[in-house]
Amino acid sequence: MPAPVHVSAHPLVRHKLARLRAADTRPPEFRDLVAAISRVLFFEATREVKLRPVTVTTPLAATTCHEIADRVGLVPVLRAGLGMAEAMLQALPEATVWHLGLYRDHTTLKPVTYYNKLPAKPDMDVAIVLDPMLATGGSAIAAIDILRSAGTPTVAFAGIIAAPEGVAALQAAHPEVPVFLAALDSHLDARGYIVPGLGDAGDRQFGTS
Ligand code: PRP
Ligand code: URA
Repeated sequence: MPAPVHVSAHPLVRHKLARLRAADTRPPEFRDLVAAISRVLFFEATREVKLRPVTVTTPLAATTCHEIADRVGLVPVLRAGLGMAEAMLQALPEATVWHLGLYRDHTTLKPVTYYNKLPAKPDMDVAIVLDPMLATGGSAIAAIDILRSAGTPTVAFAGIIAAPEGVAALQAAHPEVPVFLAALDSHLDARGYIVPGLGDAGDRQFGTS
């Protein structure tokens, strides 16, 4: 059995998704929406991280609390994963960020790696790959292949919108990787775009086309 695919049913996420999808949403609002949705996904995607006990003195007494023991690494896929990483870093400033540059060739729809400075043994226990769009799944699979080659023990994927084709491909390639999404859409069109989707997530975040 592959690891589960979690699709958020949170009303706030669904509310924000409506504006994110709308074709008339401009980049500043689009970035705010990516950040707001990403924060919710981050809380879900980190639900299995390990904690260690820590003693805290409140104004009334000493008590045992917990802090995160795992070294959490955020792995944004450039460009579109950047907005997700920024928002998650605000929620957990101790996380490290490992950028991976991948773009999807428009003709073949295959991922091309153009930036990877991962050391042989990256300093993290848990890696969360961040990319708002899981379309054919090629980019997510390539990113996770890179992390696996570097020996990262635990990997999760967090995305905003996925196509069923991408989820199936990712689960076939990396069945152990749990997937956290805001929406699972209908299908891919002939150009490999998610339908209904939101268009090109990188262009819409950064105002390019
Ligand atoms: C988009 C998106 C993913 C990829 C998804 O990136 O951000 O990385 O396509 O498609 P796939 O699942 O079929 O691989 P794009 O190649 O447009 O690069 P960009 O973020 O730099 O615009
Ligand atoms: N990349 C995007 O940004 N959007 C899609 O729908 C598919 C790939």
